[in-house]
Amino acid sequence: MEVFVIEGGHPLNGEVCISGAKNAVLGLIPAAILSGGSCKIENVPHINDVNKLIDILEKIGAEIYKEENTLIIDTSRHIAHDCSDFQEEMGKMRASYYLLGALLGRYRQAVVPLPGGCNIGDRPIDQHIKGFEALGANIKIEHGLVKMEADRLIGANIYLDVVSVGATINIMLAAVCAEGTTIIENAAKEPHIVDVANFLNLMGGSVRGAGTDTIRIKGTQGMYGCEYSVIPDQITTGTYMIAAAATGGNVLIKKAIPKHMEAVSAKLREMGVIIEESVDSLRVIGKRPLKAVRVKTLPYPGFPTDLQQPMAVLMTVASGNSTITETIFENRFKYIDELRKMGADVVINGRVASITGVEKLSGTKIAATDLRAGAAMVVAGLMADGETRISNIEHIDRGYENFESNIRELGGIIRRETP
Ligand code: UD1
Repeated sequence: MEVFVIEGGHPLNGEVCISGAKNAVLGLIPAAILSGGSCKIENVPHINDVNKLIDILEKIGAEIYKEENTLIIDTSRHIAHDCSDFQEEMGKMRASYYLLGALLGRYRQAVVPLPGGCNIGDRPIDQHIKGFEALGANIKIEHGLVKMEADRLIGANIYLDVVSVGATINIMLAAVCAEGTTIIENAAKEPHIVDVANFLNLMGGSVRGAGTDTIRIKGTQGMYGCEYSVIPDQITTGTYMIAAAATGGNVLIKKAIPKHMEAVSAKLREMGVIIEESVDSLRVIGKRPLKAVRVKTLPYPGFPTDLQQPMAVLMTVASGNSTITETIFENRFKYIDELRKMGADVVINGRVASITGVEKLSGTKIAATDLRAGAAMVVAGLMADGETRISNIEHIDRGYENFESNIRELGGIIRRETP
């Protein structure tokens, strides 16, 4: 198992380009199944979650060509609707659930293992199931498999009881091939929802209102291949913003969408960080002392839960008492024990973490407990005194392209070791 070894205390300075959005591309790759043709997707990040999803698609019959950051996915041949042979691989990732919507849309039947993903709380898929049932699917969950079939898919009005990114995208995937119109109310509004909707529209679909809480999808029969480029990753952008602020650095973050970062930029500015925005870049200049703030995670456009952990790291050295209220996932504070090993002063009470700023974190041996916690541990190591060794970094490789080489180019001291 590899580890990251970081020598802290070096400010990050320079420029970094943001890769394509993980959570968008993980929806786009299964969505390509609906085209029954060839889709060219550009700006695809080199991350392990993408590699795993590509493997799964190849196993069920897609032909995939990969060159640098471009993927060509040809699904003109028959794609197997039954993925039960891949229970182990698919059970390890979250985004495999998008095969449910894509296969149901194309073939009116799908057998897909229940999804896995980061262990950050109870992660039910009842809203996905409710949506598919409303469209006319009969569904059974047996032996860890979701089995669905429908004679016809017919558009319906679907109100989501919770704002769910996964359910919103999954219902869009199935509804785009249904007869008639589907309306999703209380839909999630994350940038990657708009990205998947744009992709579906280029394939001949009719999805309107993505990015608002009401999405209207007019079903269509003839979908076809298209060319598309993935939006920049909001969470990666935020991670570099926080890392620049944490190290007192000065980083120009290029190929980003500042509009997607408003909640994060607002909180960083409140802490005293300087942020200069242009059309497609952000300059972040870290200042000391940092001021304590209160953050509450919320669906977009609120503060993203996926940046809660890196933000907590920054709060550990802000003057005064900061709080984080995690409203999306009930078990997303497991990493706090790792920060305590570095000297952080944090009290957890249910879904609220109260953080009293200390002068410095000190490097030690810590573990990445999940993907975003892993990124947070890297930020902690970069700003801590002395050496930090982070284990379980395979979590980080799932979602950050060229993470350590980007950090090295910015002047951070980080290396990957096999103990
Ligand atoms: C996606 C992202 C993840 C991000 C999360 C919230 C992917 C692959 N993952 O995860 O990085 O942290 O959005 O932005 O895109 N819920 C239900 N029933 C459901 C579905 C969700 O109760 O059927 C609840 C969840 O338990 C959670 C909340 O709704 O409390 C939001 O979950 P959701 O937006 O669906 O997250 P994911 O799609 O799992």
